[in-house]
Parts: sequence; structure tokens; C-alpha cells
Amino acid sequence: MCGIVGYTGSKNAKDIVIEGLYTLEYRGYDSAGIALGGNKISVTKTSGRVSELESKMKESDSTIGIGHTRWATHGGPTTRNAHPHLSFNNKIAIVHNGIIENCDLLKKEVMSHGIVFNSDTDSEIIAHLVAMEDQSDMVQAIENVAAKIEGAANFLVIREGDNNIYCHKKNAALNIGIGEDGNYVASDMLALAKHTKKGIVLSDDETAVLTPTEVKVYKDGKEIKKDIIDINCKEPKVCPCYMQAEIEEIPDALLNTYDSFYKSIKQECIAKAVSAERIAIVACGTAYHAGLYGKEVIETIANIPVDVFIGSEYDRARFINDKTFAIFISQSGETADTLAAVNRSKSLGATTLAITNVANSSITFISDYSLILEAGPEIAVAATKSYNSQLLMLYLFANSLAGKVVTRDVIENVATQANMLLSHSIFTESIAKDNLFFIGKGIDELSAMEGALKFKEITYKMAEAYASGELKHGTIALMDPNCTVIALATNEDYKQKITVSVSEIKARKAKTIGISAIGEIGCDISLFLPKLEDVLLYPLLSIIPMQLLALSTSNYLGINPDKPRNLAKSVTVV
Ligand code: AGP
Repeated sequence: MCGIVGYTGSKNAKDIVIEGLYTLEYRGYDSAGIALGGNKISVTKTSGRVSELESKMKESDSTIGIGHTRWATHGGPTTRNAHPHLSFNNKIAIVHNGIIENCDLLKKEVMSHGIVFNSDTDSEIIAHLVAMEDQSDMVQAIENVAAKIEGAANFLVIREGDNNIYCHKKNAALNIGIGEDGNYVASDMLALAKHTKKGIVLSDDETAVLTPTEVKVYKDGKEIKKDIIDINCKEPKVCPCYMQAEIEEIPDALLNTYDSFYKSIKQECIAKAVSAERIAIVACGTAYHAGLYGKEVIETIANIPVDVFIGSEYDRARFINDKTFAIFISQSGETADTLAAVNRSKSLGATTLAITNVANSSITFISDYSLILEAGPEIAVAATKSYNSQLLMLYLFANSLAGKVVTRDVIENVATQANMLLSHSIFTESIAKDNLFFIGKGIDELSAMEGALKFKEITYKMAEAYASGELKHGTIALMDPNCTVIALATNEDYKQKITVSVSEIKARKAKTIGISAIGEIGCDISLFLPKLEDVLLYPLLSIIPMQLLALSTSNYLGINPDKPRNLAKSVTVV
């Protein structure tokens, strides 16, 4: 999703901002641009990649600049719609992350002054509105503009002849880096980590002024004191395929998650969850699938009822109150739908726990408790290792709710088996042509859902997940020789049932591939999983062949799995 970066100091701004945009590329974008300040603001934009932007840029000795990667919402992914946007008098440049909900109204107001828009975006409004304000007090000017905007208003402003960057935060993350040779701002800590270890995390409705030598933060016109935090995120290593590397990191990620859980879980948090009337789990996409697993393990191990909600549907969740313990799962910690759900839960009195991979992400600041996955940076848009780590975190949490401690050797064994699975492939060329189904019963259905999502995200092909026993109620009509069905079987209790489903599918001449921990289930070909102590741990392993299958198919189809079309790593709009 949109990425913002800015720098003011004594170094070359173009180089720093371009480097920042490269770091933010993984968030997903379709156009990019930079504004460099000085006596005259110069703007360069492209509807292509950051590398194209870099090649378009002229040499510059400017020491102040702001940059943006855009994920189109209002207006197509064109150069004209790329940020930064200039004000009508060319004296103000802005970059914005978010959606202005009252954009039609504000646009009318701006146009009534005879101002002509140069883009189809909602964001351009901000540049004109700032330019229309009294410039003698920029903090006041920014706050006035922010007050007019309904929706998400994370933006940076620079002015002609001014070395300051004015930043406003509302909804998505905006972080400041305090450096030796200048000050930095970015929507992502990763873009700051190269330059400094000292940072400030802005909260909603705060305005920051970055001069080349100092940072001041304001709220409601008054300067406020902010904590200086340690920017401790690991820099991602550069590698040709992040998704491949991240799948290979699953064994290490699992061990790190195990250590992180027992290092940071608070007894008080466990006690609150145990005494709650109900547990609610909220998440989106892959994290939602982890949430479904969370319900299985918490209900099975700890015997506490759990409801699971998709983030964007949580506004209609009922019975959330001060007897609710709400768990929010988010790799990035920045997903707008999930953050909105945290805020709603808090306003209704619930206790909140965030499970995230990013320390100091927005979700950690607004939740009562946090558990950090410590899976290491995840750059590929399709979540892989973070999912395995989320499952483990939920498994450990469920055990703690039941007063049980999972010993490290149990998870070391899972990690060893995960490592062995990395060299096994179920890819066949026909999969890249066929309609694909992932089926399973019980907990395996949840893994099937994640397998299908992974496949769709990076192959652009239809794939569906189904409860194996439900196929016969309709979807079996689709079975023919152009179908491949991946059947998951990790629970001995369901062996008979899944074997029958496989034979029904084979009778319709569809191809079948088994991922089984319970021996033969009658598939054409099978990958057998090693024995684990607890059947509830199998989803940590069974997803790996499906992650690898999606990756191999994506590679076979010539798609870049790290940057699938239309997707963003952190979805910061609702
Ligand atoms: C995962 O492969 C997806 N890109 C997506 O579904 C993701 O899981 C979802 O947007 C939630 O993201 P989060 O975990 O960062 O909140």
C-alpha cells in the first residue's frame, strides 16, 4: 500500500529518498514520485517502478525531499495521479497515504476558488488546502487542513524556500527517525533503520515539524513531549526471491516465536483471557486463517468459546463488552481493518491482545498486550513464515490458557520436520493449467483455505478450498479431468471420511494429490508428513508443501511471486 518517505538534513535528499522508496517497494505500489525542495520545488513521477523513477531524475544537490509509492484508490495508476502533488501556485508539495472520505465536498470547495485539479486523486486536495491557509504558522495550517479531512490523512508537506518537512498522522503509521545528519520520516520503520536507531512513533492527530537539526511534535497547536524509541527492526537481507527465502526461514522463525512467547507472555494477560466470558479473534487474509486455527486450539486445549471475525466485518460483531478478551492477529501491525477492530473493541470495554511480527507497529501501541512473532522481516507480499509463526503463537497461548507449558523440544522437532519438508515438491505442470481445489476435514479445512489463498495470490489462477464432506453437496459438479484436488489428511479419526471423498473425486476423473500424516488415502500421488506429538501441530507443517506449490507454479508461469499484481503487503485503507 502507499509508502511515504521524507528527509531533511545535510546530505543529498534525492539519494536518501530514492533508497527509502526502494525499501518500501515491498508494500505494493503502481506508481512513484519524488519532490525535492529548495528555492523551487522540483517533482519527478512515474507510473512504473522506483528504478524508472531513479533513471528519470536529474542530478540535484537538494537536501530536502519527500517521496511516495502509490497504490491506486482514487484515479488510475498513471503518472498524472502519482504523488507528490503540487498546489495551484506550485509552492507546496504533498504526499499522502490514506483515503479522503469527504473528497467530493472538499474538491468542490477548492474548485469554487477557481483552482483547477491536475489529477484524479483525492490527495491533491491537501496541497491546495495547505496553500490556501495562512502560511505564517505552518503547524496551525496543517492542523486546519487535517481537521477538514474525514478519513485517513497521513501526509507530508514541503514548501518552496523552506527546509522543514511538515508531517501529519491520522490512521496509518508514520514514524520519525532522528539522525546525526538530518531527520527522516517514513510510513515504515524499515525505511528508517538504515539511517538511525532513534525514532518517534506519531499517534493519530499529531503534527510533526522536521527541521534539518531537530524534531518537534504538536497536538492541538501545543508542542508535546514524545518518547524516543529504539528502532530495533532487523534490516531485511537482499535476496533474489524473498518468498523462497522466507519459506526457508520457517524452521528458524518457529524457534524464535517459541522463545519470544515464553519471554514476553504476561500471567496477568493469561488470567484476563481465562476469566473472559468469550474470546474474539479478529484478523484479515492469511492472519484470519491463523485466527480460525486459534479458535480450534483454544477451544480444544483450553475449553474457552471463541468467535473469529474478518477485520472488515467486525463492525457487526455483537456481544463485545468488558467480559470479552479480543485477540488481533496482523503480520504488519498496520492493517487498517484490524486496527479499526482494536479501537472498536477498546471502546466497548474489551481487553485487547495483539499478535504481530512488527514490534512498534501501530497495533502494539493501541493494544493492552502484545506478542511479537520475531519471525524476522517478511518482504514478499504473500505471507508465509509469519503464518506458521502465528499458528505456533496461538498454540502456545492456548496451552498457557490451560495451564500447560509446551517444552522447547516439541517445537524443535516441528522445526526439524519443517526443514525436511522444504526439499519436497508436489508441483506438476498440469497444476498450472488445471482448476485447483484444496480439501480437508476439521483443522485441515483451515489449512486448505490458506493453501488456496496462497495459490490465488501469486499464480492469478482460480483455486478453491472446501470441507471435503461438503463437495458432494454441489461443487463436485465441477470435477472433471481438468481439475486437480489437493487433499489434506492429518487426523486419523477422519481417515475413512477423507478416503471416501478422494474416491468420489477420482470417480469423476479429477487428479488427486495427498498431503497426509495418516498414510495412504487413495490419491494419485502423495506427500507423507512425519509423525508429530500433537495432531494440532500439523497445520504448522502441512501448509509448507502448499506454500511451495504456489511458489513453483508462480515461477513456472513467469510471475514475480514477491510482487503479485494488485496486492499490497500492508493494507492501510479500510
Ligand atoms: C497474505 O498473503 C496476504 N497478502 C494478506 O491476506 C494479508 O495476510 C492480510 O492483508 C493481513 O495482513 P496483516 O497480517 O499484515 O494484517
